[in-house]
Amino acid sequence: NKGDEVAWYADGDNMVRNEYNPSIAYAFDKVFGPATTTRRVYDVAAQHVVSGAMEGINGTVFAYGVTSSGKTHTMHGEQKSPGIIPLAVKDVFSIIQDTPGREFLLRVSYLEIYNEVINDLLDPTGQNLRIREDAQGTYVEGIKEEVVLSPAHALSLIASGEG
Ligand SMILES: Nc1ncnc2c1ncn2[C@@H]1O[C@H](COP(=O)(O)OP(=O)(O)OP(=O)(O)O)[C@@H](O)[C@H]1O
Ligand SMILES: [Mg+2]
Repeated sequence: NKGDEVAWYADGDNMVRNEYNPSIAYAFDKVFGPATTTRRVYDVAAQHVVSGAMEGINGTVFAYGVTSSGKTHTMHGEQKSPGIIPLAVKDVFSIIQDTPGREFLLRVSYLEIYNEVINDLLDPTGQNLRIREDAQGTYVEGIKEEVVLSPAHALSLIASGEG
């Protein structure tokens, strides 16, 4: 609507090609065109990370891109089109519901990395935190970990961290 022009387009499922110089193209495991819903992106690219995590496999969903490329849109979304985070939270709790034979303890942390400095978004006093490693694995020292019991609880914590 603003008259911006498409500079890169999805050429099939695995290529991004330059609109002005078609010899410039990059290959990816998966490329989604502009008509793709976030729900579809979640189902193809994130759902298996979430279900894997619930079986004990560490997982990361990482949004990377220049400003205005759609990271927040994709990860947060909005009420009528929820993003990866609310979709994942919903899935986590439905997996728990469907696995009555196992007990789960769910904890949420929320941090930012800003100019190479880690700050705790759930605790304003948690600034410039250190990353450490021990036999258990890698962790952020002193970060707040809040136990969550419902999707609404998890999402309200994340919303409080946005402030
Ligand atoms: N797939 C999409 N469909 C419709 N609108 C989108 C889509 N992706 C992004 N937008 C819109 O484009 C604008 C910029 O997107 P967004 O804020 O998500 O970018 P960002 O990568 O988070 O940028 P920043 O690095 O500045 O935080 C927003 O108005 C957003 O609603
Ligand atoms: Mg953003």
